Formats: sequence, structure tokens, C-alpha cells
Amino acid sequence: MSEAGFDLAEIDRLLSTTRAVRRRLDLSRPVPRELLLDCIRLSQQAPTGTNAQHWRWVVVDEPDQRRRLAELYARGIPLLEESAKSARDAQTKTVYDHARDFASRIGEVPVLVVPCLEGRLPPDAPSVVVTTYYGSIYQAVWSFQLALRSRGLGSLFTTMHLAFEDEAREVLGLPPDVVQTAMLPVAWTVGTDFRPARRPPPETITHWNRWQG
Ligand SMILES: Cc1cc2nc3c(=O)[nH]c(=O)nc-3n(C[C@H](O)[C@H](O)[C@H](O)COP(=O)(O)O)c2cc1C
Repeated sequence: MSEAGFDLAEIDRLLSTTRAVRRRLDLSRPVPRELLLDCIRLSQQAPTGTNAQHWRWVVVDEPDQRRRLAELYARGIPLLEESAKSARDAQTKTVYDHARDFASRIGEVPVLVVPCLEGRLPPDAPSVVVTTYYGSIYQAVWSFQLALRSRGLGSLFTTMHLAFEDEAREVLGLPPDVVQTAMLPVAWTVGTDFRPARRPPPETITHWNRWQG
């Protein structure tokens, strides 16, 4: 137990085993809407710049809508092929291979969740504004993914369909000032025993006080 009263072993297991799940999503088991609302409720505890709380979630569980979004996602595969050529290591190459395979199944995943932000940035927004904008959704998205994982569901953060953002906007019937920020396939996982990924030691990516520190 930590000083703050958390079971650290369990919290650390959650934080270190919430993976990008593609091949162990149960495509046959429906996901109750109430469960998704629970996870969205938890995500609303995430911070937003100026406390804007302008997260909006479009949850797609209707098969024809999923199929239409899946078609857009799959259309992005050639773009992926281009960057796969420069995969820097075996782990990254495997990710590309799995991402490519997944494109043929994404439409069968029971739920596709599109986190959105209400309010559009001007095209010339300075970095501080862009960072505040996207920083106000991705923390909620990760909380949502952690909440799913703790309940036995898996998810995958994807952005590929955004290459066809306007078509997706039409599919979802979004007003012009609502901006899509990702698309997360969500399903129960087949088994729940996920492992931490291999990552470099934190010392190699941490600088104390200044870059050369
Ligand atoms: C900004 C961002 C965009 C991503 N886009 C995609 C995507 O379009 N398709 C996909 O299959 N995975 C996508 N991913 C998932 C990554 O491939 C995955 O997180 C990474 O390979 C690490 O896997 P792990 O989370 O299981 O450790 C994306 C992840 C991030 C953070």
C-alpha cells in the first residue's frame, strides 16, 4: 500500500500493461453502453486547459457506421506502408505489420470511439494554443483507456482515419466546429494477461535541470 492509500502493485500493473490491443479484441462480445459511460465519466476527471472541459465523445456501435469508418481507416494503409519502410527496429516493424493486418478487422470491432474537441483552432494557431488544445483531450483519452483496461476491455489509439477527416465528419454528422482527435476501437479482450512492453531505461531519456545535465 502506498502512502496515499493505493495498492501500488495493482496500480503499477494497470499503468504498465495497458497496451495497444489489436489481435486480442473479442469481436463477438457486445460492449454495454453503460460501461462505456462509466469510463467516459472517469475520463472527465482529466485536466483541461482553462478548465474548458470541451471534450465530446462520439461512440459508434452501429454496424453500418462502423463499416464506413473502417473503410476510411483502411484507406490510410498506403500512407502507413510509406513510413513502414523506415521502421527503426524489430519492435516498430512488428507494430507496422500488426497495424496493417488490423485494418481488415477494424470494422468488426464492436465499438469505435471518436474523442472530439468542441471549438476549432485557427490554421495559424501558435504552439502554446495548439498544445493547450490537444493537451485538453489526450489526457482524458488515456484515462478512458486505463478505465477500460481495468474493467477487462482493450483499446487502441489510432489516428489513421484522420487522413480522411472530412469524409469521417460526414459519416458522424459532426458540426463544423467539432474536431476529431483520434479513433479508438474498443472491445473485451481475449484473456487479460498483458505484459509491460520493452522500453529503454528512464535514465536514458531524462535530463536533470538542463539538456546536457
Ligand atoms: C498519436 C498516436 C497515433 C497512433 N496511430 C495508430 C494508428 O493509426 N493505427 C494503429 O494501429 N496504431 C496507432 N497507434 C498505436 C501505436 O502503434 C502503439 O501505441 C505503439 O505501437 C506502442 O504499442 P503499445 O502501446 O502496446 O506499447 C498510435 C499511437 C499514438 C500515440
